[in-house]
Amino acid sequence: MARTQVGIIGAGPAGLLLSYLLHSEGIEAVVLEARSREYVEKRVRAGVCEHPTVELLREIGVGTRLDAEGLPHQGFSLRFDGQDHRIAITELTGKTITVYGQQEVVKDLIAAHEERGWPIEFEVSEVALHDLETKNPHITYRDVDGVERRLDCDVLAGCDGFHGVSRPSIPAERAKMFNRDYPFAWLGVLARTPPSHEELIYTHHPRGFALHSMRSPEVTRLYLQVPHDEKIDDWSDDRIWSELAERLETSNKDFSLREGPILDKGITPMRSFVIEPMSHGRLFLAGDAAHIVPPTGAKGMNLAVADVRVLSRALVELLQHKRTELVESYSDTCLKRVWRAEHFSWYMTSMLHVDPTADDFDRRLQLSQLRYTASSRAAATSLAENYAGLPFV
Ligand code: APR
Ligand code: PHB
Repeated sequence: MARTQVGIIGAGPAGLLLSYLLHSEGIEAVVLEARSREYVEKRVRAGVCEHPTVELLREIGVGTRLDAEGLPHQGFSLRFDGQDHRIAITELTGKTITVYGQQEVVKDLIAAHEERGWPIEFEVSEVALHDLETKNPHITYRDVDGVERRLDCDVLAGCDGFHGVSRPSIPAERAKMFNRDYPFAWLGVLARTPPSHEELIYTHHPRGFALHSMRSPEVTRLYLQVPHDEKIDDWSDDRIWSELAERLETSNKDFSLREGPILDKGITPMRSFVIEPMSHGRLFLAGDAAHIVPPTGAKGMNLAVADVRVLSRALVELLQHKRTELVESYSDTCLKRVWRAEHFSWYMTSMLHVDPTADDFDRRLQLSQLRYTASSRAAATSLAENYAGLPFV
């Protein structure tokens, strides 16, 4: 039987960063991850780090590669009716965002754990959480060799994403779930070709939303709105490029769609979800385990980072000073930011996608919102400050 102070389920950005922050404060933690190290390091996810996320990663000493390889951006474009309207983030807010793949953040955090000898167990299975309402919760699981294990803890952190086991361990009558499904999904591709433009372009087109993003000067990331039940096998590379070409057509002379070999493609459903509260007894949820946003606002990873920043402080207070105020307010503190991001992500999604259930009235409202955002400094500033990231609470 093993013992640690904080048992962390999941080695995504939330679990790894929480473990890093706790160890840095002298608190012991063990991370248990269902997948292999190779899998979590290669999994292609979102790629925009907002200003407060970058500052935190730098401040705690894991920003070296991010500073060297991340791409700082001072604005992005909204494209509709074939025309670009730039949202000048830095001019409007004084902040920048950084394009740096989520799996790069994950790699940096795993490498930091390895260097310092902080434990992460990969390829565990049958993870189950017990005695959450006591001061001695524990986790049972099988390790990589199939051996049954028990880990006794003071606190458990559920950082195991939307499909994990932590959230379902909370009795249904003790929590309220908020859910919104969208009648579309994103088809994402990673292509070996230089970006077609130096900034991100969020495009509203009658055939559906499209997004031009990137990972490096050699690798482009592109997305297409598709029906929610779409099969990836129906999308040949040729079909993807011709659909992108149609939706991204523009009068902007600085843009021409560059094609290249497709390295990865996949379909991601769009959903908004929140559980309240984000804790139960000695279990604290963080990141996608507690909330999901549609990717249009680029908030998923940033919310995970914000949660564990609050949680790590609360756990230091609890475990080192026996003070309970911050763990008691953890959920309320996080939910304020979570709901702001939920609203922003819903707003960006609604403004930019083609909703198959919309009528003409809805379509006119949508176009008016796009025009207003593109032409009013006040509206653009509101968008920019949400996008760049509101200060940590
Ligand atoms: N046991 C152990 N690990 C698990 C289990 C389980 N039963 N179920 C899931 N996991 C692992 C997953 O394999 C994954 O590595 O938990 C991890 C959760 O990581 P993420 O899904 O990346 O979630 P999070 O760390 O909250 O980061 C949020 O990830 O989904 C994106 O867009 C989202 O950018 C956001 C970010
Ligand atoms: C990405 O580059 O993967 C990306 C960028 C912006 C988004 C979502 C995803 O809003």
